[in-house]
Amino acid sequence: MTTTIAIASGKGGVGKTTISVNLSLSLALQSKETLLLDADLGMANSHILLGINPKFTLDDFVTGKSSIDDVITITKDKLKFISGGSAINNLLNLSDLERHKIIQSFNNIKKRPEYMLIDVGAGAEASSMSFMASSDKIIIVLTGEPTSFIDAYSLIKAAFLDYKINNFGIVLNMTVSEMQAKLNFNKFQSITQKFLDVNLKYLGHVNSSQRIRNSIISRTPLMSKNNKNSDTQYFDNISQALSLLDSNNTGSIKFFD
Ligand SMILES: Nc1ncnc2c1ncn2[C@@H]1O[C@H](COP(=O)(O)OP(=O)(O)O)[C@@H](O)[C@H]1O
Ligand SMILES: [Mg+2]
Repeated sequence: MTTTIAIASGKGGVGKTTISVNLSLSLALQSKETLLLDADLGMANSHILLGINPKFTLDDFVTGKSSIDDVITITKDKLKFISGGSAINNLLNLSDLERHKIIQSFNNIKKRPEYMLIDVGAGAEASSMSFMASSDKIIIVLTGEPTSFIDAYSLIKAAFLDYKINNFGIVLNMTVSEMQAKLNFNKFQSITQKFLDVNLKYLGHVNSSQRIRNSIISRTPLMSKNNKNSDTQYFDNISQALSLLDSNNTGSIKFFD
């Protein structure tokens, strides 16, 4: 059975792609069959963090040029990857029907992965919301800034009221310490749960790190075989916490049904 996990955020630039890519690599390096889907349509850039230039992208599938299996690239760390592509218009203007077609096409994948992570676009627009509703689990990336809090709250509110999503895992990014991350989580949780009947679970934190910044600039993933350091540990810790996060029962069509 595949566990699908959407990585979302209220506002952009908070580290969704950084966390999607490195968490996917952490799972793949633990020999768990993992597929990363870059569904940040129009802003797809996971391939840059992975340091690869895939020949085929989701765009080739949507336009009918390739099968879903043909647009999967396998990285040197055995991570399976579907790039969002850069033919912005095709993907950004998807209708509900086309989005459903993409979601259902995952049933045709020859070998189902153990995990599928989905890097979704920021905010509560239609395509992000439908990818979230079609996933089993949701991770919201949060930073300590008030703007991130407010936008994440709005996203959770929309997901809860419109799609009945009530379980959310929270990852704090660009923190200075675990203590600060947990304080911010507690603050966010008490505000959110005062107004919405949702469950938030702390899944971990990633400190602000020059090594992470450098890995992005040099297009060399932080996580790789035989590379263990204090930064790779953040992503390994989050991967361990995934089993604590409850799935959602939304009634929407799911990626692997
Ligand atoms: N933990 C971190 N430490 C240092 N810089 C980070 C960290 N996470 C993200 N960044 C910086 O923030 C930028 C935006 O991150 P990204 O993952 O692309 O965000 P999003 O996908 O949410 O838009 C990155 O290019 C990187 O420079
Ligand atoms: Mg991104």
